[in-house]
Amino acid sequence: MTQPDFRTPELDALAERIIPATHFEFPTETARDRFFHNTRMLDVKQHVHNAYRTNPRSMVDHMITNLQLSGTQDLLDLGCGNGFILEHLRPHLADGTITGLDNAPAVLDAARRRLHGTATPCSWIESSADDLTMLADDSFDRVMANYMIHYVPDLDRCFTAIRRVMRPGGIFQLTTDRADSMLEMYDVHFEALRALDAPDDLFKATPKGRLSLDTGAAQLAEYFEHVEKVTWQDQLRFTDPAPFMRFYEVGHNHCCASSVPDSRFDDGFYARLRGLVEAEVVRRIQADGYFAVTKFTGSFLCR
Ligand SMILES: C[S@@+](CC[C@H](N)C(=O)[O-])C[C@H]1O[C@@H](n2cnc3c(N)ncnc32)[C@H](O)[C@@H]1O
Repeated sequence: MTQPDFRTPELDALAERIIPATHFEFPTETARDRFFHNTRMLDVKQHVHNAYRTNPRSMVDHMITNLQLSGTQDLLDLGCGNGFILEHLRPHLADGTITGLDNAPAVLDAARRRLHGTATPCSWIESSADDLTMLADDSFDRVMANYMIHYVPDLDRCFTAIRRVMRPGGIFQLTTDRADSMLEMYDVHFEALRALDAPDDLFKATPKGRLSLDTGAAQLAEYFEHVEKVTWQDQLRFTDPAPFMRFYEVGHNHCCASSVPDSRFDDGFYARLRGLVEAEVVRRIQADGYFAVTKFTGSFLCR
């Protein structure tokens, strides 16, 4: 099946113009205690990514192809979150095993409950992905780290440990975004920030810039002999502003503007920000029939 291509010269030019060179960065403890202390953020994102997509092949389908599962593999999922991806992969591992690891107990527990009672043996480990000391050498055929690597404090320790626990012939899949993924969301957000005369330090790119789809290959090549990039695109289309606004506010903390408490901004600031963003989204829906949010994401397959 050919992949849809949503890239246009207009989007490239917009990315060039608006995506800042610096990106947000949050300590893993902030992620654990603020973003993943419950499953709300993940639930909103997963629902919206799935319900409003236009690519008939889902992100999980893309991963299933990448991982080349024959049903018997032992799979380790680093930063497994609430187990959304594992639930979908599980039928492809009917005679294999699943190990989910995450440093946020609330989401790890949700994953455990989600896969409870399935025939594939599952184990769950609360740890940071750069501490895999509890796992034996050569114990997994597949290792994944999806949309989480930017939170891991010590990448050298993490990649070295993945090599150690992965069997020869195994595949490590690292999934992340390009810095300009979901460009239209950043566009309406930055426009609203400018209208509010917000301080410069709010104008930053996604935290995934730490190891993005544009920059990650060179970092991974230091640890893995073969690194292949497999891209995947999608375009979310909203004809109602409400689900997008939930995605923006709850799923993305207003493009990270509300990720950590900041005494400079009160609830009124965020309410005005949302008001401006929503007005522009409504305007675009009226003009174009929908508000588009284009995703440039993909995986590195490392051997
Ligand atoms: C955006 S979620 C991705 C969840 C899942 N991989 C997915 O794609 O649906 C990021 C996950 O990484 C976890 N995480 C953050 N820092 C981590 C660390 N140092 N070690 C392990 N997991 C971590 C979070 O708790 C969260 O579940």
